[in-house]
Amino acid sequence: MENKQIVITQFGEPDVLAIQSTEIPEPKDGEVLVKVAFAGVNPIDVKTRAGLGWAASQNKDNLPWVPGYDISGEVVSRGSNAKRFSVGDNVAGFIGFPLQGGGYSQYVCVPEIELSLVPDSVTLEAAAALPLAGQTAVQALDKAGVKEGQRVLILAGAGGVGHIAVQVAVTAKADVFTTCSGENLDYMASLGAHAVNYKFAPVSERVEEADVLIDLVGGDAALDALNCLKDGAKVVTVPTLSAELICEKSKLLGYDATGMLVDPNPQQLDSLFYMVSVGLLKTEIFKVYPMDKVVDAHKQIETGHTRGKVLLNMQC
Ligand SMILES: NC(=O)c1ccc[n+]([C@@H]2O[C@H](COP(=O)([O-])OP(=O)(O)OC[C@H]3O[C@@H](n4cnc5c(N)ncnc54)[C@H](OP(=O)(O)O)[C@@H]3O)[C@@H](O)[C@H]2O)c1
Repeated sequence: MENKQIVITQFGEPDVLAIQSTEIPEPKDGEVLVKVAFAGVNPIDVKTRAGLGWAASQNKDNLPWVPGYDISGEVVSRGSNAKRFSVGDNVAGFIGFPLQGGGYSQYVCVPEIELSLVPDSVTLEAAAALPLAGQTAVQALDKAGVKEGQRVLILAGAGGVGHIAVQVAVTAKADVFTTCSGENLDYMASLGAHAVNYKFAPVSERVEEADVLIDLVGGDAALDALNCLKDGAKVVTVPTLSAELICEKSKLLGYDATGMLVDPNPQQLDSLFYMVSVGLLKTEIFKVYPMDKVVDAHKQIETGHTRGKVLLNMQC
């Protein structure tokens, strides 16, 4: 049996992605071998493939490199001292972040502490959609200290992170406002948010007195959204490229602002699975691509208009 993996052969356009065959690895001490069902595709994978950002600079002498941080699948064997899971368990996780990656593999060895058990009530598709994006959403809302009754503005509520952030904030009983294009207005309303079409008018003309801004867009959209906030508001800006600029401007305006880098936390993933299993959270899967269509999957993320998540089916 072989282990097919998707690799970045050199930095560049999506067609630098290729499939390589290697041997199925053996789990080491504390690791399990996971047969990956689905791998999530995130904007960071696309940026790294293009040669941008920290993961690209760290791995530039390490190509071909296997990207991918989100996996769901089945435990097929265990290394010594790996006792948390049994062979046959469905697991998922936010793995190898940020240096190692490796999720775009049919088989991958993972330290068992990086994984969560996927309950029967959660599909493997939903489980692969949640790790990186879900934990980013939860950590951004936590950093902002979102509380019941607060007016929370989330930019890009329809995206991979945004659609989870909106639902978690609604569950926390915040009054949630979000920006999206006309195509996503109904979808955002169905999740319980007041949806604002950013293509129709700047959000600063439509929302005021927000306590919190969760910025998932950055740049000019974020700068405009700073005009929607009340005195002393909290700002969490998630895209790293413009974080310094947004934080500086926020602080000049008297807001409490911070950037962030998501930190893998399996307990948070357990909580997200619980929310899915009791109906408080629904993942939106834009499309599942077979692994040999990974180029199309990256092109889809590059449109900047994916609703929810893109996944790779690693077994076909
Ligand atoms: N710092 C970290 O640790 C961290 C972690 C995760 C993600 N990120 C970053 O956070 C950002 C969001 O990630 P993601 O996975 O959610 O991205 P994504 O899924 O690719 O976001 C796509 C969404 O963005 C919306 N969008 C595009 N332009 C917009 C605009 N001007 N205003 C409002 N919505 C807009 C689109 O909605 P419409 O089609 O309706 O326009 C689409 O639904 C990315 O830059 C990502 O790299 C950072």
